[in-house]
Amino acid sequence: MDHFTYRDNELYCEQIPVSAIAREAGTPCYVYSTATLCAHLERLQSAFASLNPQICFSLKSCANLSICRLLVEHGAGMDLVSGGELERALEAGADPAMCVMAGVGKTDDEIRAALREGVGWINVESEAELARLRELALDEGVRPQVALRINPDIDAHTHRYTTTGTRETKFGVDFERAVSIFERHRADDAIDLSGVHVHIGSPVLTVEPYLRTVERVIGLIDAVAERGVTITMLDLGGGFGADYESGQSPAASDYAAALTPLLQSYVDAGLTLVLEPGRSIAANAGILIVRTVYTKVSGARTFVIVDGGMNVLLRPSHYEAFHFIWPTSVRERTHVPSMRCEHPSMDGLERVDVVGPICETGDFLALDRSLPPIERGDLLAVFAAGAYGMVMASRYNASRLPAEVLVDGEDACLVRQRETYDDLIEHERTVTPLALVEDVAP
Ligand code: LLP
Repeated sequence: MDHFTYRDNELYCEQIPVSAIAREAGTPCYVYSTATLCAHLERLQSAFASLNPQICFSLKSCANLSICRLLVEHGAGMDLVSGGELERALEAGADPAMCVMAGVGKTDDEIRAALREGVGWINVESEAELARLRELALDEGVRPQVALRINPDIDAHTHRYTTTGTRETKFGVDFERAVSIFERHRADDAIDLSGVHVHIGSPVLTVEPYLRTVERVIGLIDAVAERGVTITMLDLGGGFGADYESGQSPAASDYAAALTPLLQSYVDAGLTLVLEPGRSIAANAGILIVRTVYTKVSGARTFVIVDGGMNVLLRPSHYEAFHFIWPTSVRERTHVPSMRCEHPSMDGLERVDVVGPICETGDFLALDRSLPPIERGDLLAVFAAGAYGMVMASRYNASRLPAEVLVDGEDACLVRQRETYDDLIEHERTVTPLALVEDVAP
């Protein structure tokens, strides 16, 4: 599952003690394992091998340039959702033709950038966007490959904020409208509308919603084929689970075993399959290290106050998401649970709230969590934090964005420096009057 293991009572990332990284890079700090990143990508590649998928890493989940570069070197394309992500993917050396770009609110500038760079597939989310994309493609003099994002109306039973495949969400177009949209653009000189895109939510912890989605999508592919439109690309989105708790998520091979029989004949007939995994590659490949600043008892609660909270890892506070937390150095050998879960069955644990330094009651990493006794100065590892961790970190309370370290065997590199206080104010140093004179009321 990952390469974060305890040896001689110390947590290691691959061959390096995590406490040594904290000493050099400071805390809070994200630490990623190269071996875990590559292993998860390779597992997907081999599980789906018979469908020869184009795996586009969902950059929104973990956008560090060095990590993107690593995944590109191992054969990944990128799934993008903004002009900023396109810039990042290019900087990381991604082949634009191996990239897909979705997003409900693409601006003209973002669409033009995607057209100019030659993004492989532009995944369109509405008829209004399709119309605008046609105009811009004609203007740019290119004929892009376009996929229509379908809202499959499937509930994948994720948190309500990350459910994307039900009708009341803002994503994609209704199934019912899709056939006529494909028909209308069958012989369109401006765009090649021949792809279907779906993304049902994230994380999806069973294979069953994918099965229902693929069945529906195949129905659509067949329906448009009867009207003379050949779908050449199916993008199944992302959403495969990760192990926040031990053994929580199906394996890549489980998803592949369920989906391959449905898709094989289509792929054999020339359909390209695209997958957009983010979390399933990055989540278990990263941990967040925080340091205990104080502990205190208040009323019935015991607080462990650490130096990073919702500002560095928003998921617990925003989605009430579970992240396993454990000290990086344990005092007794027995004090490492065999399963990562909320309340390991072992003696000597206390129920505590692990909270950050931010001025909000909602600033926590864990509530009512069983942990061994924690003291001031202790380092805690917050596991499975590699996806939607750093990318959702904020500068709230004027906190500096944390450092990121990428480990590869016995080597560790600082791949993002901790911000300085100067970084926090640099865009406010210059005050520029706007040239609004003619608009000012007389
Ligand atoms: N493709 C599309 C179109 C997406 O919207 C997403 C995620 C993905 C792929 C990648 O999904 P993944 O394989 O990483 O599950 N911040 C939330 C997750 C939001 C997901 C947004 N879209 C969290 O922390 O759980």
